[in-house]
Amino acid sequence: MCHDCSAEPGPAGTSRRSFARFLAAGAGLTVLTACTPEAPTAAAPSSASPSAPPSPVASTASASPTADPATAAAAPSEPAPSPSAVLPRQFSLTDPASPWLIVNKHRPLVPAAYAPADLVRPALATTASGEAALLNSTTAAAAEAMFAAAAADGVSMVLASGYRSYSTQVATYNGYVASRGQADADTASARPGYSEHQTGWAFDIADGNGVCGFQPCFADQPAAVWAKANGHRFGFVVRYPWMFHPITGYYYEPWHLRYIGVEAATDMAARGIFTLEEYFGVEAAPGYFE
Ligand code: DAL
Ligand code: ZN
Repeated sequence: MCHDCSAEPGPAGTSRRSFARFLAAGAGLTVLTACTPEAPTAAAPSSASPSAPPSPVASTASASPTADPATAAAAPSEPAPSPSAVLPRQFSLTDPASPWLIVNKHRPLVPAAYAPADLVRPALATTASGEAALLNSTTAAAAEAMFAAAAADGVSMVLASGYRSYSTQVATYNGYVASRGQADADTASARPGYSEHQTGWAFDIADGNGVCGFQPCFADQPAAVWAKANGHRFGFVVRYPWMFHPITGYYYEPWHLRYIGVEAATDMAARGIFTLEEYFGVEAAPGYFE
């Protein structure tokens, strides 16, 4: 059984403090790594795909080589082939309207108060209301297809939280800080201007059974298991995978799905690459600069 330490959108987590104490006791890492197929050492893109090119070719101007020690510790011995060398389409890593946008603790949204121009209300089962029931139009269409495919497999998936404006993220983040303190909040909630939810490219799912919403045990619910195995077929990745917080900056969120397009998501899955930072060759972002 795996354990996790975060929940959203509410500041609900006593589990993270338990997790921190567990790690602090010095007994955690081996056990935690052993309980997951997504340990960092699994990220070995250079040997996972026979179609991978022999050397990286970075054509996206904003991409930079990975240099962070945390990434280096988890990275394979050879650099990952650049996705730009193998995928037919190319997108910006910095434009918030791009499906390949990478927003993390080192890469804020520009402009900080960005709002998508094409927010729509997808035809999905949802527990969200207001703006949280919205996604950008591309993500909405992909989510509708994914939810339908899950349903065809007997899995009930629910949209739990979609778009969040800058001002909503202010309230969300401040709620975490008030409840847990800033250091703990920063492991679960993005600061305003740093959240994928603000782009419409990301959303959180729940299971139709209503069990374990935004809780660690959600990882074992049918919707999470299905999404993890099949999300790439619809362009989605689990953005904050288990044990990759030294790279992503956030603990495991099996409910948080991010659209990057079918080609890139499928390529990531084929190569066994779990984070956008590694796949697109940008530095790890375990914490904010300030
Ligand atoms: N929970 C994710 C990191 C967010 O706040 O965007
Ligand atoms: Zn989320």
